[in-house]
Amino acid sequence: MKKLNSRRTFIKKGALASIAIPLLGSNLISCKSETQKEPNEAKTESKKLSILILGGTSFLGPHQVAYAISRGHKVSTFTRGKTKPTVHAEIFDQVEQLIGDRENNLKALENRKWDVVIDNSGRKVEWTKATANLLKDNVGMYMYTSSTGVYYPYLTDNISEETKLVLSMPEGLTEDEQYEQEYGVMKGNSELEAIKAFGKERTIVVRPTYMIGPADKTDRFIHWPIRLAKGGEILVPSKKEDPVQYVDVRDIAEWFIRLAENQQHGTYNGVGPKDAQTMQEFVKQAAQSFDVKSSFVMVDDYDFLIKNKVYYSVPWIMPHEKNYGSARISNSKSIAAGLTFRPLKETVNDTYNWWISDAITEERRQKFEANPNTLLAKEKDILESWKTLKS
Ligand SMILES: NC(=O)c1ccc[n+]([C@@H]2O[C@H](COP(=O)([O-])OP(=O)(O)OC[C@H]3O[C@@H](n4cnc5c(N)ncnc54)[C@H](OP(=O)(O)O)[C@@H]3O)[C@@H](O)[C@H]2O)c1
Repeated sequence: MKKLNSRRTFIKKGALASIAIPLLGSNLISCKSETQKEPNEAKTESKKLSILILGGTSFLGPHQVAYAISRGHKVSTFTRGKTKPTVHAEIFDQVEQLIGDRENNLKALENRKWDVVIDNSGRKVEWTKATANLLKDNVGMYMYTSSTGVYYPYLTDNISEETKLVLSMPEGLTEDEQYEQEYGVMKGNSELEAIKAFGKERTIVVRPTYMIGPADKTDRFIHWPIRLAKGGEILVPSKKEDPVQYVDVRDIAEWFIRLAENQQHGTYNGVGPKDAQTMQEFVKQAAQSFDVKSSFVMVDDYDFLIKNKVYYSVPWIMPHEKNYGSARISNSKSIAAGLTFRPLKETVNDTYNWWISDAITEERRQKFEANPNTLLAKEKDILESWKTLKS
């Protein structure tokens, strides 16, 4: 089988904004030692928190802001003032919006106190080191938004929070391999800087897999809402048994706030769905979001897919070589710590409705929908070649 060397474009687009490639595991780990309270306990009266979000205006951030404010918490954001939210924009009137730059200007964070800081915008180890050290005496808890990318390469099917991470760049990687590896190394070391400054008891690390839902900047998942809404004969790249993992951004956002309310600490994979799912099950369930007739053609020959430059279609990532375990990551510890999952139908519907709304521009929609390199554009031709091959 050929190498997935053309995945680079995908990684380039998505990696620094998210994860290089996710993975999975199945260790059942008790979170009791790392939690101070029963996390699933219904909390009727939680303390009102003051929360600082480093970032807060792109994808995950606005959902955290909206949920935190709905629960009576006070929110400050810290950004360069460039990115504007495409969801919950109206709520930002109630947010203290601090301006600076993680690269070289943290002045707005000096001599201020918060209960919790959520570090969403950590793109460099140095950034997290600097903010964690600046805030450690004035803020109660540091929440670091990491990624399942820390487990890359995903070589096993037994990946859990206890899995050993690659923390330095291995020797002898090709340029493409370096690109795929460096995001996880950066996230893993950033986690350690947060813990070093705040201590284990005051740090929460959340490692989300692919987050999907309204406000996604990456256009990695939007293929499925658009394609399933049209119906008809749909190409599904995947062997029958290929697993998928993904998580609604809102489930992660809300869980962040509840983890803070519950004063938990520790490291958690932010991975859904709740139970193991194959790509075939995913498309069938997701299709229920639309009232149209669909049939699915499972294109299950990896060599054929590689020849046609189909290496992934999130949530499906071709599960071989370094990506074998990317959708085999344990979520048992996180579920025990209160991670919940909304129905897939709701995720797909809401994402589609956001995509066709005026929250995003026609130009952006066109850029994606008219791009000749997407699976959307290539589907018909690939299906024809597939049928010829199989006839
Ligand atoms: N998307 C996924 O599937 C996925 C999966 C796993 C993990 N993650 C991780 O999840 C996190 C959340 O990302 P998000 O974009 O959704 O978060 P977000 O908090 O909604 O937005 C990112 C924020 O970073 C700010 N920012 C960027 N550069 C900055 C700088 N130099 N100084 C100060 N602020 C800066 C941006 O505002 P300005 O541009 O105005 O500065 C923006 O508000 C990231 O750490 C990502 O790696 C994502």
